[in-house]
Amino acid sequence: MIYAANLKCNHTRKSFKEYGTKLSSALNGESVLVFPPFCALSEDKFKFTQGVQNFYPCDNGSFTGEIGADMIDEFGITTVLIGHSERRALGESDVLLKAKFDFAKSKNWDIIYCIGEDDITHMNGSTKEFLSEQLENIDLEYENLIIAYEPIWAIGTGKSASVEVISGVLEFMSSKCNAPLLYGGSVNEKNISDISQIPNCDGVLVGTASWDVENFIKLIKA
Ligand code: PGA
Repeated sequence: MIYAANLKCNHTRKSFKEYGTKLSSALNGESVLVFPPFCALSEDKFKFTQGVQNFYPCDNGSFTGEIGADMIDEFGITTVLIGHSERRALGESDVLLKAKFDFAKSKNWDIIYCIGEDDITHMNGSTKEFLSEQLENIDLEYENLIIAYEPIWAIGTGKSASVEVISGVLEFMSSKCNAPLLYGGSVNEKNISDISQIPNCDGVLVGTASWDVENFIKLIKA
């Protein structure tokens, strides 16, 4: 199981140092990825992999407010999130997402590519068509690809998708590619054991339940 923590816009340099130290001392070989905010990235040696929530597809240059590969490389980071629905909602288009994917691939970075439908698409039963379109944007054969299925209606709502829904979607996705598959959307210490038993589920992408380190440790140990 892969346990990925999306800290979103939470944690400072000081609080993430404590977070990382506590999490590291609780880990015992589990596969854990943590995505802190840029300014909280740490140069400490942890027992988990740090990744970035965002980047601009450049090494450096005149891109005000953006972070490029030179800055990410300095931390030795090779793991990136692309396509999170909260970034899509801020205006990241398929064109930009493809540019980010292609750039990350050219760097040989590990990519967690997020896809997921909104509640209307879910209700009208066209989830698979919608996800297929989102996946057309990227190279599904890329060897360092992980795909996270994150239904927008389940993110941050406290209401995870049901085991049946997740199973159906992950089965569908596994018919399209060989990449490891994660589920994300209100994963917590109570539902993790059911979710982790879903066939084709290789891990979880956790938001809210990862922000408090004790909570995230409980989830991993559960
Ligand atoms: P959540 O967020 O766990 O708070 O639903 C998941 C995510 O946005 O990756």
